[in-house]
Amino acid sequence: METIIGIDLGTSTTEVAVIRNGKPEIILNFDGEKVTPSVVGIDDSGNILVGESALARQIIAPEQTVIEIKRKMGLNERVHLGKTIFTPEQISAQILSYVKRFVGEYMEEDITKAVISVPAYFDEIQRQATVEAGRQAGFSVERIINEPTAAALSYGLSHLDEESHILVYDFGGGTFDVTLLEMFGGVLEVKASNGDNQLGGKDFDQKLIDFLVERFEEKNGVDLRKDIYAMTRLKSEAIKCKIALSSNEQSEIIIPMIANKDGKPLALEETITRTQFEELISELVERTHEPIDIVLNDSGVSEKDLDMILLVGGSTRVPIIKEDIAQYLGKEPVQAIDPDYAVAEGAAIQAGILSGALDGDDSIVITDVNPYTLGIRALSYDDFDYMSVIIPRNTTIPVTKKELYYTSWDNQTSALIEVFQGESSTASHNHCLGTFHIEGIPSRRAGLEKIEVSFSYNLNGMLNVEAYIPSTGNAAEITIDMLNQNDKKEQRIDVSNWKKSPLAPDFRPLVRRCEKWLSSGKIAEEDLEYVQDCLYSLKKAIIEEDLENAEWYENEIHELMEE
Ligand SMILES: Nc1ncnc2c1ncn2[C@@H]1O[C@H](COP(=O)(O)OP(=O)(O)OP(=O)(O)O)[C@@H](O)[C@H]1O
Ligand SMILES: [Mg+2]
Repeated sequence: METIIGIDLGTSTTEVAVIRNGKPEIILNFDGEKVTPSVVGIDDSGNILVGESALARQIIAPEQTVIEIKRKMGLNERVHLGKTIFTPEQISAQILSYVKRFVGEYMEEDITKAVISVPAYFDEIQRQATVEAGRQAGFSVERIINEPTAAALSYGLSHLDEESHILVYDFGGGTFDVTLLEMFGGVLEVKASNGDNQLGGKDFDQKLIDFLVERFEEKNGVDLRKDIYAMTRLKSEAIKCKIALSSNEQSEIIIPMIANKDGKPLALEETITRTQFEELISELVERTHEPIDIVLNDSGVSEKDLDMILLVGGSTRVPIIKEDIAQYLGKEPVQAIDPDYAVAEGAAIQAGILSGALDGDDSIVITDVNPYTLGIRALSYDDFDYMSVIIPRNTTIPVTKKELYYTSWDNQTSALIEVFQGESSTASHNHCLGTFHIEGIPSRRAGLEKIEVSFSYNLNGMLNVEAYIPSTGNAAEITIDMLNQNDKKEQRIDVSNWKKSPLAPDFRPLVRRCEKWLSSGKIAEEDLEYVQDCLYSLKKAIIEEDLENAEWYENEIHELMEE
C-alpha cells in the first residue's frame, strides 16, 4: 500500500495531512509548523525560498517575492521573481516541492502521490494548472478534490451516522465557495457548488489598504501607492489590524517613517473601529449571497431544510461574516473544529480511501457534482453558435447523459462535434474542451438523419463523449482527461480583424510597436512565446471589447518591452 497525502494548497497558506491509525494527521513543516505560508521568494544569490522564510523577506524584498499565486492559476499570465519570469504553475510547483521535501522528512520516506484540493468553483483550466504544478514538483496527482467536499469529509468522518443537509461555507484568503451536501448512511453526496474565485480575505485587506492610503493622502498630500516598500509594510499592518478587529472593537495602526515629505519622515497613525471596517467590506459581504441562492436553488433544498451551516476558512473568523450568514439563512452557523486544517484533513481522507489506508468502519462514500455546464455547439433556428446543454452544472457525478440531434443541411455526411464547458448560451463564449468528427451519415435531406451524442463524466475527471448514427451504427468518440489535458492551450480565435473593434484606436500604436519588436529578432528565445501570447490576448481582448483585460495586457507588453 503506497501512502498518498492530502494537500490544501491555499491562497494564503498550505496545509498537508496523511492518514495514520485511521485518522488524519497534519504533517509539520521544517519549522515544526502545521501551516506554511503560500509564499515564494528568491534571495540575492538566486536561491528559491518558500514559506515562512519567503514571507519574512517580503518586507525587505517585495519585488523578489510572490504571494497569492493561486489567484493566477490557469490564467495566461506570468509573474516576475527577481529577473526571472515564471508561470503561475511554476510558482505553485515551488510550494509543492517544498511540501514534498518536508513531507519526506516527516514521513521518513519519499512520498510521490497526492490528492490536492481546489475551490469547487475552479474551472477545468485552473484544475489542470494545479495538476501540472503537482507534476512539476514530482507528485502524481491521484485526484483533485473540491475544498468544501474535503471540509465536509473531515466533518463527516466523525459524524457518519447522522442524516443531514450540510451547507459548507468556505471563505478563505482568495476564494469563496458554497457547497450543499447531503449525508445519509455514510454516503456524502454533493448536491451543488457555487462561488467566486476572486473573492477572499485578500479583498478585505485591499479595502482597508485603500482606505488608509486615501486617509494618508488627505492628511499629508503623499500618495503611498507609488512606493512598493511602503505598500508592503502597510499591507502587513492592515492584515494584522483586520485580524485584531475579529476579537476587538477597535485597532490601532502605527507605521513610523512610512514616507518622507520635505526631508521630514512621516508616520501613519490611524485607529480603525470594527464598524468602520464592516462598512468598508459590506459590498464584499453582499457578494456572498448570490452563490448561496444559486446553490439552494440548484440543489432544490430550501433554507429551512438546512441542518447545519459549516464554516471553513480563515475569513469566517470575521464576526460580520457569521452574523451576515445567520441573518441571511435564519440559522446560526457552526465553525469547523479546525477551520484551518479541515480541508487538508478531508483531502487526506480522500487519499486514504484511494490508497486503502481507510476502509471498513471508517469508510465513507462520496459523490460530487460538476460545477460547470457541459454541452456541444449546435444549430438552433437562426443561431449557429448555440450551446446545447448535455450535462447541466451541479449534476451529480458519475453521470451519463444522451441527446439526439438531426442533420442540419441536405446531404450532410459528417458532423463536427465540439465539446464546450461553461454557462453562456453562446457556445464560443464558453471553453472548448475538444472536438472530433463523426463520418458516414447517409446522404439524405436535412433533418432526416439522427446523431446521438452521449456524455459520460466520472469522479476521476474523465469525460467521454460519443457520437452515434443509429441508422448505420457508425460511432466516433473522444475521451477528455479533464485533469491531465496535454493540450492545455485554449482554442484560439481568429484575431486578425481586431482593428474593426471600437477599442482598436487606443491600442493601435502599442500593437504596431510590439509587432515590430517581434519581427526584429531581438527577443530572447525563452520569452518569445510569452510575448506572442500576450499580443494575441491583447487583440482578443480588443475584439471582445474587454477593456480591463486589454489594459492588463497593454501594461504587460509595455513592461516586457522596457525590460
Ligand atoms: N482571525 C482572523 N480574522 C480575520 N481574518 C482572518 C483571521 N485569521 C485568518 N484570517 C484571514 O483568512 C485568510 C486565510 O484563510 P485560509 O487559510 O482559510 O485561506 P486559504 O486556504 O489560504 O485560501 P483559499 O482557500 O481562498 O485558497 C487570510 O485572508 C487571513 O488574513
Ligand atoms: Mg482554503
